[in-house]
Amino acid sequence: MKLRSILPLLAVAFVLVLSAIAVVATFGLGQRPGTTARDAGVADIGGPFRMLDQKGSAVTEADLLGKPTVIFFGFTFCPEVCPTTLHELTTAIQELGPDADRLNFVFVSVDPERDTPEQLALYLSAFDPRIRGFTGTQEQVDGIAKAYRVYHRRVPTGDGSYTMDHTATVYLMDADGRFSGTIAYAENRDTALGKLRRLAGLRA
Ligand code: NI
Repeated sequence: MKLRSILPLLAVAFVLVLSAIAVVATFGLGQRPGTTARDAGVADIGGPFRMLDQKGSAVTEADLLGKPTVIFFGFTFCPEVCPTTLHELTTAIQELGPDADRLNFVFVSVDPERDTPEQLALYLSAFDPRIRGFTGTQEQVDGIAKAYRVYHRRVPTGDGSYTMDHTATVYLMDADGRFSGTIAYAENRDTALGKLRRLAGLRA
């Protein structure tokens, strides 16, 4: 094949590669929560749910309205991400002091098989008592996870047991239940505290 006949093909291939890059840049990265999700108008994180709290009482999204909410998803058998996040939240709540009462703090289980309300209560007793735990049926858990666009997957561990892969992002919701921002896993402590203060309507 002569060079002159290959050139148009190369030009087409080049344009296709550029288009693919443009599509990935626009849609692939544009939907990461907390970065450009809000700017792109993708604010449909959150929504209706029916769950049980760690006391066994029924809760819905209405119970969280009126105060901004700090919410994240995990499971009590989590070896690292969840205890780390709950520990950091506990530290932040203590630094906020009485102002922490301006916010709801919620830990939602993605492992309802093991995380009964009793198990949640026992687990959360190691952290600040203002952090509430939600669990429910598998269907209810799948529903709230879908509403918050939370990834969760059961992974067998080989010894007949299992662990859960799950989104580690903390979601910040306003008093009307609308998505307002995120705190990343192990985010800088001062940055995270500033976000919580702003969410609470305080000067960061
Ligand atoms: Ni976890």
